[in-house]
Amino acid sequence: MAEDAVKEFEQDLTWTRRHMPLTRAQSEQLPDLTGVRLAVSVHLDIKAIPAYEALLQHGCQLFLTTCNPLTVRNNVVSDLVNKGADAHVWHGMSAADQAEAMHRVIAWQPTHLCEMGADITAALLEQRQSNPVKASLEATGSGISRINQLCAAGAALAYPIFNWDDLPIKEGLHNRYLVGLSTWHTFTERTHLSLHRKRVLVIGYGLVGQGVADSARAYGGTVSIAERDPARLLEARYAGYEAGSLDELLPHADVVVTATGARHVLTIRHFSRLKDGCFLLNVGHVADEIEVEALVPRQPAIPFVEEVTLNGRIIYLFAGGSMANLVAGQGDTLNAFDLTLATMLAGLRYIFTPEAQNQPPKLYPLPRQVWEPVAAQAAQVS
Ligand SMILES: NC(=O)c1ccc[n+]([C@@H]2O[C@H](COP(=O)([O-])OP(=O)(O)OC[C@H]3O[C@@H](n4cnc5c(N)ncnc54)[C@H](O)[C@@H]3O)[C@@H](O)[C@H]2O)c1
Repeated sequence: MAEDAVKEFEQDLTWTRRHMPLTRAQSEQLPDLTGVRLAVSVHLDIKAIPAYEALLQHGCQLFLTTCNPLTVRNNVVSDLVNKGADAHVWHGMSAADQAEAMHRVIAWQPTHLCEMGADITAALLEQRQSNPVKASLEATGSGISRINQLCAAGAALAYPIFNWDDLPIKEGLHNRYLVGLSTWHTFTERTHLSLHRKRVLVIGYGLVGQGVADSARAYGGTVSIAERDPARLLEARYAGYEAGSLDELLPHADVVVTATGARHVLTIRHFSRLKDGCFLLNVGHVADEIEVEALVPRQPAIPFVEEVTLNGRIIYLFAGGSMANLVAGQGDTLNAFDLTLATMLAGLRYIFTPEAQNQPPKLYPLPRQVWEPVAAQAAQVS
């Protein structure tokens, strides 16, 4: 890095650490972690550093890779490698490079995993060889669905996996409030457009979709919801939204956001029905909710926005159909992410214990006694 970039990075990191008191408190409670080999497959931006540097300082060995190459910041990887981490990860790495990263992670012989999306677990299940993993922590709804699907198809887990996605202090706060806020903040910053006089269609009304819808309304949009679950469709109506089927709502939308965790929710079948000038965004974990392969040929319009002309109409694709708030923006605020990161550290501290490791190999919710102290401290701090 050039000297100015190094100085700016150090300032950012000092600022980040200063605004993460909960993470600091959890870091101070880490035991000696000599012998722990933790493989992580996560988003690697500057907000992650305080947790991983604390693990390294306590003797933990780390192997870094990612669940999404577009959210990786190379200066973050370099910083952690300089502090002792191993890594096979960089911004924009190809699918083949990611597959190679999985080989390297497995060859590195991790004793524990910290995942967002269950890539390492899926690779281990596919390989079907014995491995030294004792326990894992999974952070995403998409990862949990993937593990459930693999198990339903006959795969046998070899270690317990603790789910911290659906904790009230994770999905109830981060998913519900921060994804929407950061998505529209990012959209406005990148496009220089607000949502006033725009009709926003949110597809999927889980906690993420609910937050995206509420924030879109706060940012000036007129919001409607497409949801396949009739109970959630009713929830959307009770919250005051127009809610119905994708087919009836799509032709009126100026901005369409997918928030489902499902593949190909918006396909070539839908694209011909979009309005001229419509924006397509995704906030789901995997960049496959929009069938981007069918949006061709695409030309860059402005950074993070590409345009394609279909049937004489211009369609804009935001952030390549990958997670809008993380790929084109900074994601959560520091104070909000502090709670998430502190919860992750509390979860890691737990999976390093014999109590966690001795559980039969299956999926478990992260026990309440693990995360409640973090919530109690956060409630006092704020
Ligand atoms: N961008 C971020 O920073 C961020 C943060 C947290 C979670 N996520 C991701 O966001 C996604 C959604 O998370 P969630 O917690 O709200 O999930 P959820 O499963 O609770 O909700 C998803 C909703 O989408 C609906 N849905 C699925 N397929 C649909 C379809 N074809 N048409 C209409 N509705 C459909 C489901 O019925 C469900 O109500 C996941 O992939 C999750 O990993 C993203």
